[in-house]
Amino acid sequence: MTSTFDVAIIGGGINGSSIAYQLSKRGRQVVLIEKNQLACEASSAAAGMLAAQAEIEQDGPLFQLALKSQAMFRELASELYETTGIDIEFVQKGIIKIAETDAIAEEIKKQVTFQQNWDPDIKWLNAHELHELEPSLSPDLPGGMYLPNDGHVMPAALSKAFAKAAIHFGAEILENTEVLSFLYEQERVIGVKTTFGDIHCHQVVLATGAWAAQLLQETGIGITVYPVKGECFSVKPETPIIERTIFSDKRCYFVPKRNGEIYIGATQVENTFDKNVTLEGIAALAERAIQLVPQIKDARWERVWAGVRPQTGDGLPYIGEHPFKKGLFMAAGHYRNGILLSPVTGKLVAGLLEGHPDEHLLSSFRIDRNNKMVH
Ligand code: FAD
Ligand code: GLY
Repeated sequence: MTSTFDVAIIGGGINGSSIAYQLSKRGRQVVLIEKNQLACEASSAAAGMLAAQAEIEQDGPLFQLALKSQAMFRELASELYETTGIDIEFVQKGIIKIAETDAIAEEIKKQVTFQQNWDPDIKWLNAHELHELEPSLSPDLPGGMYLPNDGHVMPAALSKAFAKAAIHFGAEILENTEVLSFLYEQERVIGVKTTFGDIHCHQVVLATGAWAAQLLQETGIGITVYPVKGECFSVKPETPIIERTIFSDKRCYFVPKRNGEIYIGATQVENTFDKNVTLEGIAALAERAIQLVPQIKDARWERVWAGVRPQTGDGLPYIGEHPFKKGLFMAAGHYRNGILLSPVTGKLVAGLLEGHPDEHLLSSFRIDRNNKMVH
């Protein structure tokens, strides 16, 4: 097969699909190339929290990017529903970041003051207020930070909605097609070599999540992107026991979905692409979950799963243009927040490819910020 497109996007996760949507909406001829199936990796393993302020505790480029993306979800949900009929199940009932000890409570109270700079509705809840709002939480908890405007979505639905909307605007999707290398004309990338033949195009976007370093290596740039496995499980109580997302720390949170399921995540296992779920991981998670929400022990077991988060050496995603291979761009390394960041990633990359980059937002995410040349 030899075909020509304006843009080839490698990787059919949520970020590749969001970029495909934004570019095809702007009239570009796009092909999205996925080695397995759309959203088969991290993008369907995620819990779907849009937890900019629960996950990121300091101001900085990632925090600002996350806030910007978070603010896009309400409009995006209706836009995607109108175009595709897919409901991404955007729920905006808030997140409570709970403290498990008095010492952690003091830390979180400082975060409340900091986070109120961005949302004055955020407040500290003492033990009494916490239990009034979420009576199923353990009575031992001293309190928590309440972020009433936060929310969550169904990650696989969002990913599929982006892809379906991209198709609506003319994009082509190639599943079960692996990109093996780039095609070059001198220092310009002019396409990709795949397991089903060459595809020619004017621009290429690498959006391959935890696999991003591998293809980039051949272009003479060594960046650090590595997998961090996360295991999750879900249960379904007979009647709802929590209404809001409960976030204890990065290793234990509860996300109550619209269908009554509660997603409980997640472990953090570095440097493995193995998606097997271990009894050790799930047992530890279940034990903590029961401590924090004791009633959860009676809920019906639903399922377990795992996925690999794409982490980078400095914790920031790579979103930008290749420093010396013209026509090559990258959007990968979104680690724990790739669902949250997908709307803004799509828009930023589309702007970049169209020749009007948002330099201010993009400057911290450049590909060459800390790379090792491998010429
Ligand atoms: P992926 O979804 O990994 O997609 C990359 C795709 O590229 C894959 O489909 C892969 O098959 C394909 N690919 C790779 N190499 C090639 C090649 N050579 N040719 C063709 N295709 C290729 N984020 C949040 O915002 N909120 C959450 O609550 C949240 N919870 C999470 C919970 C868990 C347990 C995990 C694991 C992650 C969670 N995340 C969350 C993080 C989020 O899932 C990721 O950051 C996001 O899905 C990354 O999306 P991506 O499109 O960049 O990568
Ligand atoms: N953001 C939740 C997770 O990565 O587990």
